Amino acid sequence: MKNFFDAADKKSRKPARLDLIQSLSGLVLALFMWTHLLLVSSILLGKKAMYTLTGIMEGKFLTGGDHGFPIIVTIIGIGIFSIFILHAGIALRKFPISWRQHKILRDQMKTMKHGDTNLWYTQFLTGFIMFFLGSVHIYILTTHPAEIGPYASADRFVSDWLWPLYFILLFAVELHATIGMYRLAVKWGIFDGKNPRATRKRLKMAKNTLTVFFLVIGLASFAAYMKIGLEHRDRAGERYHPPSEQAELSRGEHQ
Ligand code: HEM
Repeated sequence: MKNFFDAADKKSRKPARLDLIQSLSGLVLALFMWTHLLLVSSILLGKKAMYTLTGIMEGKFLTGGDHGFPIIVTIIGIGIFSIFILHAGIALRKFPISWRQHKILRDQMKTMKHGDTNLWYTQFLTGFIMFFLGSVHIYILTTHPAEIGPYASADRFVSDWLWPLYFILLFAVELHATIGMYRLAVKWGIFDGKNPRATRKRLKMAKNTLTVFFLVIGLASFAAYMKIGLEHRDRAGERYHPPSEQAELSRGEHQ
């Protein structure tokens, strides 16, 4: 029979376990987001570069044909969405649950002026924004896996009116991911070394540098998709093919 202390012991481990799951899921999501933005920013190297990368991600080289396996995107989408929901669900337990609690928190922040508490609040706000905007984006991409490419993506920005969502989401994601990684490093003392105070300062600098880096490439990619989407507005829905494939396609049409 279990004694009282066993039961109490078991109970007390739950918050620690939830914290660990939250940290690990956050780590996976942040690494995914950084990789994702680098892939999305391939448009900065030109339409053909993004087209080729999309083909590689869909495993086009395995079929040798015009289409790869867009189901790969769906599988990744379902996986990321599941981790996203898990991460957000666990985070909910730390959200202020009433306006009164929220006000107490804001008042304390004003008197304490503590940098890391302000960062926690930014995490809370950006996380809240991502609940809604992130879900819309993942759902659309997961259910339309074959519609990724220089024109298809740019049309989604402009003709499908996703640009306001992407603009807000970009800031929310980049702040959330870099602050999250910083808080992970501080929380688990990963780089503490001999002088944790000095390390924390360096970590903060790394965090700020990464935020600026990802925001700059994110905004540059945003501008590139907007430009292509605006130029392509009259032909929205038409897919991009590099000049070599285009010539082959037109030959096929004339035969
Ligand atoms: C499997 C999951 C995902 C896939 C396949 C995916 C794919 C893409 C693609 C192809 C684009 C280019 C625009 C477009 O085609 O609509 C894009 C843009 C974007 N995605 Fe995702 N995405 C995924 C998950 C996420 C998540 C979880 C977030 C954040 C919560 C996110 C945030 C963004 C943002 C902010 C942009 C705009 C980037 C910019 O303006 O530079 N994505 N995504």
